[in-house]
Amino acid sequence: MNKPDQALLQYFNGKDILQMDQFNRLQIEAVLQTAAYYEQKLKNKERLYDMDGKLMASLFFEPSTRTRLSFESAMHRLGGNVVTVSEAPGLQFSSRSKGESIADSIKVISSYCDVLVCRSSEDGTRHVVADNSSVPVINAGDGAGQHPSQSFLDMYCIFKEKGSPDGKTVAMLGDLKYGRTIHSLSQALSHYDTKIIYSSVPGLEMPLDQLNQLKKAGVNYEETYNMEYAVKNSDIIYMTRVQKERFDTLAEYQEANKKLSFTAEYLQIMREGAIIMHPLPRAGELDEALDCYPGAAYFRQAAGGLPVRMALLALVCGVAKINSI
Ligand code: NCD
Repeated sequence: MNKPDQALLQYFNGKDILQMDQFNRLQIEAVLQTAAYYEQKLKNKERLYDMDGKLMASLFFEPSTRTRLSFESAMHRLGGNVVTVSEAPGLQFSSRSKGESIADSIKVISSYCDVLVCRSSEDGTRHVVADNSSVPVINAGDGAGQHPSQSFLDMYCIFKEKGSPDGKTVAMLGDLKYGRTIHSLSQALSHYDTKIIYSSVPGLEMPLDQLNQLKKAGVNYEETYNMEYAVKNSDIIYMTRVQKERFDTLAEYQEANKKLSFTAEYLQIMREGAIIMHPLPRAGELDEALDCYPGAAYFRQAAGGLPVRMALLALVCGVAKINSI
């Protein structure tokens, strides 16, 4: 990775972080370099004031622990402040509300703060929020749509554990239809010479429009229902949870869930040095017996969420400085 120059860092100033196809390889790596800088600062236990006087509004309309706490911790670690809303009965993200109340709410909330972090349960909310906000918006996950900050931390983990994704094969497993982390990470990897093997069960495959987008970008991918094949032939295994909250019926969810699990038996067939990633939380699909395997990277992956989100906040607020990186 080359060290980013000041102009590249300034590119992010005032920008929204909505979906991964906004960013090219250089821009992705600029975020990762900024995150590495903040990780070092955290290790040195330095007190930071980069966001002194700045306020982040944290709007989570879908349950979240990791993402929300890592964004809020990131802002505090940067010396900034946070206001937060988790439930607001008057606020409706649903299209049933005709988008009116959300638009007005975002106009008002953005007039109070310097950056807005938002999660909702509906794909596409990112655009409504961004269109109505007067400050930069970071999409912290919108329905089955996109989850770009997760992809930056996934890329951070891949670089740390395995180096550049060029020349590597990534198996993406689990709920590929509703898994927004899969959708975003696929777009990020499309800038690398990475092969992707998608493996799921019938009905939960990668959405066709997304596959077409990847095809256009020249991504080398394969689809299979044979999880063993995907695991055997990959350097990075990215497992995901079946997204219970996005199914119409509990029976449909249970049917899919019992077929999708990654057990410790797979260790026998994995490539030497292969790593296992998972965005967490896990819900039974990732065997706890895997946790002591050195390549089980998911907790290290989650820990990277803090410096990566510090980087994103500092970059969109224009306070990340090249001379410090
Ligand atoms: C992911 C999400 O919310 O999409 N989790 C997260 O951000 N840590 C994955 C998931 O919920 O399965």
